[in-house]
Amino acid sequence: MKILITGSNGLLGQKLVYQLLQTPGITVIATSKGENRISRKDGYEYLSLDISNREEVLNIIGKVKPDCIINTAAMTNVDACELDPAGCKALNVDAVNFIIEAIQNSDTHLIHLSTDFVFDGEDGPYSEDDIPNPLSVYAKSKLESELAVMNSCDNWAIIRTIIIYGVTDDTQRSNLVLWTKSSLEQHKKINVITDQFRSPTLAEDLADACISAALRHAKGIFHVAGPEEDTDSIINLVKKIAAFYNLDTSLINPVSSDELKQPAKRPARTGFKLDKARRELGYHPHTLPEGLKIISSQLERKPANQ
Ligand SMILES: NC(=O)c1ccc[n+]([C@@H]2O[C@H](COP(=O)([O-])OP(=O)(O)OC[C@H]3O[C@@H](n4cnc5c(N)ncnc54)[C@H](OP(=O)(O)O)[C@@H]3O)[C@@H](O)[C@H]2O)c1
Repeated sequence: MKILITGSNGLLGQKLVYQLLQTPGITVIATSKGENRISRKDGYEYLSLDISNREEVLNIIGKVKPDCIINTAAMTNVDACELDPAGCKALNVDAVNFIIEAIQNSDTHLIHLSTDFVFDGEDGPYSEDDIPNPLSVYAKSKLESELAVMNSCDNWAIIRTIIIYGVTDDTQRSNLVLWTKSSLEQHKKINVITDQFRSPTLAEDLADACISAALRHAKGIFHVAGPEEDTDSIINLVKKIAAFYNLDTSLINPVSSDELKQPAKRPARTGFKLDKARRELGYHPHTLPEGLKIISSQLERKPANQ
């Protein structure tokens, strides 16, 4: 089975490549914009692919003829999307349509990544049957891409997820856990939201769910996040992360969404019901403490310059 990953330099993309290399019978084609930033270079092919370039998408997918595409590439900075709606649409909607065009008249299984932000946060935790009501440019773009995928063919799965955390080979991008840890280690005071609730997702768990969807040819929408019992306010999550790493919680400054004045509006309470993913993908997420332990051991193994 040949699996093509878009956005392989990203957090989920890197985990997918490493985990697929441990999965027997898979040919891995990793693609991302620009140079390959994954440390390991053997065991798979890397192709530079800018998914917002229609010609490149048609060309590369046409040549590779993958059995499955896992589309992780996206403009994922929610505030940047709010400030640049055209750039957001180009990557999060138009590029998805290029991928759909490239696999028309083929059997390629398209697994597309989406977000809890498609919901308005008035009624979380959400199941796959709940009705989306996106609040921001980013959220609307992801919902639009979902609809494009759903209307394209029968052979698709959409995996929605919530705050991904994990360690990558490069340090270009942070996430809730790494940001909390590094800020507090440097004794920086941090403003943390009190009135938004989430269940963060270990990147390895999400990669497992995507691979399971590929191997099982799963179809439909799947909610994949941290365990239901880990759903908490962002400030409590940050306090738990700080406590785990023995860091100074007095540096955590509580702020409301209104006080923080971020450009993009966020849903208040998300969290996912995971029954479908557990049943159909064999999904068993790590708890937050288990995930933090995994991250600690990964950071210990990293060379000092990374
Ligand atoms: N991160 C979260 O907390 C979160 C939460 C909910 C849903 N999601 C969804 O989950 C998916 C994966 O998220 P992630 O955290 O792994 O994202 P990420 O770390 O931001 O990775 C996205 C990757 O896409 C690459 N990319 C950007 N523009 C591209 C282009 N034009 N062509 C090809 N590749 C391009 C980026 O390259 P560069 O690294 O070179 O910029 C990056 O490596 C996304 O679809 C996102 O919407 C994420």
